[in-house]
This record gives sequence, C-alpha cells and structure tokens, in this order.
Amino acid sequence: MRKIDIFDTTLRDGEQSAGVNLHFNEKVEIAYQLERYGVNVLEAGYPASSEGDFRAVQYIARTIKGCSVTGLARSVQSDIDAAWEALKDGVDPRLHVFIATSPIHMQYKLKMSEEELIETAVSAVKYAKRFFPKVQWSAEDATRSDWDFLVEIITKVIDAGACVINLPDTVGYMHPEEYGSLFRYIREHVPNIDRVKLSAHCHDDLGMAVANSLAAIENGVEQIEGTINGIGERAGNAALEEIGVALYTRRDHYQAETSLDLSQTIRTSQLVSKLTGMPVPPNKAVVGANAFAHESGIHQDGVLKNKLTYEIIEPELVGLSSNRMVLGKHSGRHAFREKCKEMGLQLSEEAFQNLFKAFKDLTAKKKEVTEDDILTLLMNTNVQA
Ligand code: KIV
Ligand code: ZN
Repeated sequence: MRKIDIFDTTLRDGEQSAGVNLHFNEKVEIAYQLERYGVNVLEAGYPASSEGDFRAVQYIARTIKGCSVTGLARSVQSDIDAAWEALKDGVDPRLHVFIATSPIHMQYKLKMSEEELIETAVSAVKYAKRFFPKVQWSAEDATRSDWDFLVEIITKVIDAGACVINLPDTVGYMHPEEYGSLFRYIREHVPNIDRVKLSAHCHDDLGMAVANSLAAIENGVEQIEGTINGIGERAGNAALEEIGVALYTRRDHYQAETSLDLSQTIRTSQLVSKLTGMPVPPNKAVVGANAFAHESGIHQDGVLKNKLTYEIIEPELVGLSSNRMVLGKHSGRHAFREKCKEMGLQLSEEAFQNLFKAFKDLTAKKKEVTEDDILTLLMNTNVQA
C-alpha cells in the first residue's frame, strides 16, 4: 500500500468560505480534533493576513505535536517572515509558499512576465529555506497554466529547495482524466521530480474535486489537500472525509492508505459544521444525516436480511453506532416489525397488522414516523397488545 499524506486546510482555505469567521478558540478546538483525526499536515492559517490569524497559527504550532503545522505565504519576504515567526516553535515547521502561474493571473493580477515570475518564485523558496526545514511550493491556477512553463518553473523551485510541489486546480476546472495526465506529464518531464512529493489541491466548482483528487492519486501524487465537509472558497474544496473513506473502501483499487483515524470522521465533521455555522447537507456522502439511512421497503428488507445488500460503508467505520431505518411511506412490514421489536412492543399478530395499517395511513400525512408517533397510534387505534 502506498502512503498518502493528508494536508488539511480547513482553517485556511476552508475559512475562506463566504460567511465563515472562526475565532481563536474555535480554531484551536478544530486543530485539536484534526490532530485526533490523524491528518499529517495542518494548514492553520495565513499568518501575514491579520494579527488574529498570526496568533492562532502561532498557538496551534506551539501546541499541536501529532502533525506538521504549516501556514500560507505569498512569494514576498514579509509574508515568509511572518510565517516563520508564527511557525518556528512547531515540531515540524513547514512553509506553504505560492505564486500563480497561469497566463491570466500573470497578466492581470501579478503583471509579471514568465522570467520575472520564475525569478520571484525561486527567490522566495531560497529565502524561505534560510529558516524553514521544509518548503512546499504551490503553482496557483496550475491547471490553466502552460504545462511546459510548469515544467520549467518546477525544476527551478526544486533546485532552490522545495520539497513538496502542489498543483492546485484553483478554479475547479479539471476533469479527472485531465488532472491525472497533468501529474503524469510533470513526473515524466521534470528531471529532478524524484526529490519531491507531488500534491493535489482541488476545488469543487464543477463538482469534481474528490474525483480529481483520486485521479491524482492514481497518477502518483503522494499528498492530498482538502477540507472537512469540503468547505472553502465558492463551491469549496475536496472533502477530505470522502477521500479517506473512498481510499479505504476501494483499497483494492487504489492500493493506497492514509493515517486517518476514520472512526473520528463524524465527530470531526460535526464539530466543523457547528463552529463554522455551515450545515452539512443531509445527502452528503459519508457524513450527511442520510448517508446511512434506509427508507424504502425494498432496501430496508434487504438490509435487515444482510447489510451488504445496500451498504458499502459500515456506519461504525466513521464513528456511528448503527445505520438508520427511516419509517416513512416507502417502508414495509419487515422494517416496521423490527422497529416494534426494538421498542419492546409485545403485539399479537392481529394487533401488529392493525398497527401496521394505522402506520401506513399516517405516512400519507407525515414524511417520517417516529417512535412517539407509533406509541400514539398504539393508544389511539383499536390495537390489542
Ligand atoms: O486554490 C489554490 O490555488 C490555493 C493556493 C493558495 C494553494 O488555495
Ligand atoms: Zn485553494
């Protein structure tokens, strides 16, 4: 099994979600939970961006011992200085320095030529290496950049001392086959590529961030970046919990593993949702409230006979105690009988059939029938226990 490092950026890219503003204590609480979850690199913020970010990154770097803590910096000395001040007391400090490499960013945002850009990137990495043992370099908007220009600049930043090369799909533009071939191209054309780890960082504008990250793994990437619940700029980042569970569930295919403690998945997701104020959609893969819920009679009957009929992930894997049978208009006798047993109701067959009929009538008016509803039915209908 290949080992895939998990780089969590919930506290940096994730906090860039519209409407999210985490306070110091909330960031620290999330950082502790991410450490428990088993991430390998924790991007705690962007130290030069504000006093608040600086203090949070510094505190997290000083207290988190189970993983490397990193912070973001533009390719300017003042950002790198601020990041070093914030990160230097960490157990394994790493800088995450970036510059945009696509023509549109170079022309309109940075107003730099290719030569100037290479010079700026190389100088930033060399400067960072004076302080940081590890420097990760990111080519912002890599997926809309010229591939041969990427080859040139990557070769030079590796020579300057970068040890991780990240190729973000900043605007979520890729499809899996394309993103995978970018990494193949870079591996085949950058002469010193064996000296570094490759990293993928995907955004979800076209709903493909997780698929693109998995395609990157299939093409030799050893580090995946993302956020919990996929929060982040615009449509968000790749959801790390989905990647962790996908790699585990389809380990036959990916032959790759992470150090995530998957039993912390739900807990991590719920904490991030609570503190960011961003609800998890009920149908969201892995962590949504309905991810392990069965409603239709056919599915409930199948699962009661053998869970594997409709469950590819065991709820226990992600930290849930069981799946959930939702009693609604699609539910059948089998699931209803199980629910009555679970509630300890001792019913004759005739009483059960009457109660089942009353339950079915109720589902015409109510979407989900609860235990309280069943007890009310029991009192109100002519059911003899
Ligand atoms: O999406 C992106 O390009 C980023 C970089 C700063 C790494 O978040
Ligand atoms: Zn990003």
